Parts: sequence; structure tokens; C-alpha cells
Amino acid sequence: MENKKIKIGLIGLGTVGSGVFKTLSDFENVEVVKIAVKNKNKQRNIPNLDESIVTDNAYEVVNNPEIDIVVELIGGTNPAFDLIKTAIENGKHIVTANKELLAKHGEELFNFAEQHNKVVLYEAAIAGGIPIIMPIKTILAGNKINKIEAILNGTTNYILTKMDVQHSSYSDVLKEAQELGYAETDPTGDVEGFDAAYKITTLATLAFKKRVKIENVYKEGITKVRAEDMKAANDLGYKIKLIASAKLDEQGRADVRVHPMLISKKSTLAHIDYVTNAVSLTGHPLGSITLSGPGAGEFPTASSVVGDILAIVKELGTTDYLLPMMRCDHHETAEFIPVSETENKYYLSLDAKNNKGVIGNIGNICAEYNISLESIVQKNVSENNTADITVITEICKEKDMQGAVKAFETSEFINKVNSLIRVQG
Ligand code: HSE
Repeated sequence: MENKKIKIGLIGLGTVGSGVFKTLSDFENVEVVKIAVKNKNKQRNIPNLDESIVTDNAYEVVNNPEIDIVVELIGGTNPAFDLIKTAIENGKHIVTANKELLAKHGEELFNFAEQHNKVVLYEAAIAGGIPIIMPIKTILAGNKINKIEAILNGTTNYILTKMDVQHSSYSDVLKEAQELGYAETDPTGDVEGFDAAYKITTLATLAFKKRVKIENVYKEGITKVRAEDMKAANDLGYKIKLIASAKLDEQGRADVRVHPMLISKKSTLAHIDYVTNAVSLTGHPLGSITLSGPGAGEFPTASSVVGDILAIVKELGTTDYLLPMMRCDHHETAEFIPVSETENKYYLSLDAKNNKGVIGNIGNICAEYNISLESIVQKNVSENNTADITVITEICKEKDMQGAVKAFETSEFINKVNSLIRVQG
């Protein structure tokens, strides 16, 4: 290969973009020749940044004939999708951290790239600095992966960890996290599970080698988790985490979801705290592994972006068909198990009247819906003559559990169903 510098165009110079720019400056074989930003006048503390290469028109990056690789770090679908497509049409390879774009338009994007014989790499889009995409495509390629359980969102993991250690409410911890800059002013994308759902959609597609459609991914956020649930879970030997999971059943049908879950304290994921992310994979012949590390942040995310850039750089000029193992060429769409048909264990917190027969009534309702109980706990009766009752069920059908919840809501013995949270099976 001739000894020329590979030319890079960056779109986005926020936290991750800055980390990528600074990290790339250590490499002699690459040169950032154009950077698109939203606001050219923003003060940036980036040493060696030549202001003359900064533009506020991202099309100056994707249309620049000198550039070999476009790195998209602005997120969102619009204008990112059009910018990437234009770059591909103009002969550029793509590195992106855009989980929303991949989840919503991955199939179209990868097909488009393939038609133009270009690659789109995205290690940074899922679990930030944890190497997971490249390993699944390469060294784990001999596996049939049938299960993923992961913590893919640092903001929610931080909030849940703080609720646990401080015994605080969700709203108090969210406020504190926003003041410290750990949570966004509008935290919806994180706390309602959108971010984790985007990530598990792409991760499951890759791991199962079948397209998972984002609209089939069941999603519940953490806003209803109460400090009381945290305490009850702890007493029963569990932690509550926002778990992104994906499973394939024996018929090859997918069950992909994001929701809070009680995780046994004996499981590795129960010990992944604060902003750390982790991905547990199970497959054959490997068995199970868990990778953990920083899921976000300037340099951890830059590590993944730069790794992808250098993978492309290494091959440019050596072959007409780059990185065959790194391409996304699965066309089969995953068949889904409807969430009502899924089977889970459940944690149920009930605010019950202090009447004779209450526990019997709970047992009867569960039996009526074909639900067997693993444990039932009533510690005391409060001054207003109500009892806080915690139930853990055995594995049962979601639709049966939803039926039982409706029956509890109309039972004369129950004041309120406080919480229903799935339990790791
Ligand atoms: N907002 C994400 C998180 C980081 O809280 O983990 C970027 O994907």
C-alpha cells in the first residue's frame, strides 16, 4: 500500500467527536481534513484544532472528494441518514455511533452501503467503549447466540444504583443526576428505555443474524420503580436493573425487550453499577460470557470509533472488497413472540386491606390465572390498617399475569397494585 495519509471527515465535535479528534492526532497514517459542527462560534478546548477545517455545513464533509472515511457523530435520523447516504454515494466508508439510525433504518442503510461496495461500522453505537460488535462479527462468528442480557444505558443504571444505595426516590435521584450533568434536561430517551431499545435492536439483529424490527421490541422505562421496590428486592436477594434482553426460542422466534428487572445478587449483572454497561451473551459452543466497561464518555467511545476507523484504514488500497466479515448482510426478518405469550417470573407489590382471608384471596386469584407463587411476604400491618404484601411468582404467562393484575385491581381485599416488575428467570 502506498504511504499516504487516509483522509477523515468528522460530522459532530461534541464530547465523542472531541475524543475522536484528540485520539486520531496520535496516528501518523490518518488526517482529519474537515469537521462539521452545529455552531462554529462555540468555544472548544481542543489543542491543535485548525479552525480553517471547521464548517457548519455538513455537506462540505460528505461532498469533499479528498475524504475517504466519514465519521458521523451527531445522532438522530435527520439529517444523519441523508448525510451518510450522500457520503456513500460519493464513495466514502462510514463509521457511526448512531444507534437510533441503525435501529430504525439499519436494513436500508446496510443495503445501500452494500450496493455501493462501502462499509458502515458502528462499534461505538452499542455499549460505547465495550468491544462487542467486532467480536460478534469475527471471533464469535462460530457461535449460535441465543440469549443476550445487557445493561446498555448508563443514565438509568446510575439512577437505579443511587436509588438503591441512598434509599431515595426516582424523582429525587433524577433531579440530583440532572444537577450533576449525568442525566439530560429532557431525560425521556434514557429513562423511558428508548436508548436501550435502539441498542438491543441492533445487537440482537447482529447476534441472531436475523433482522429485528424496532416496532417489535417491547419497552418499559424506570420511572415507576419505587424506593420501596428497591428495598423489597434487596430483602429477597435481588437488585433492580434496566435490562435489555433478547432471546431466541427453539423455533427460532425472537423475544426482545427492555424493562426493569429483578436480578439475583448472584448474577454478574447485579454488580454492574452507576454508569457502567455490561453485555452477557450465551451461545454454542462458547457458553456464557459477560463484557463490562464504560458505555459512554469522551475517550471510551472514541476508543470504539477510532478502532473502526483504523480497521478500514488498514484495508484501504489492499482490496476492492473491504472487511467481508464486518458487513451486515442478513436479510431474514426475525419472527417475534408476542409479549402477551412470553413467560416470566414476576415481583408484585400489593397494598392490601388488613382483613381475614387476604393472603388466601391473593393465592386464589393467582391460581385462577394459572400462576404459582414462589414466595409471599407480609412483614407488618401499618397504622392505617393496611398491609404491604410482596409476591414473587414462579414462571407464568404474561397474559395470565396481566389478567391477575386486573383481578387484584377489582378485588375487595386489595387497595392498590403498587408495582409489577419482571424477575430474571
Ligand atoms: N445516553 C446513553 C447512556 C449514552 O446514558 O448510556 C449514549 O448512548
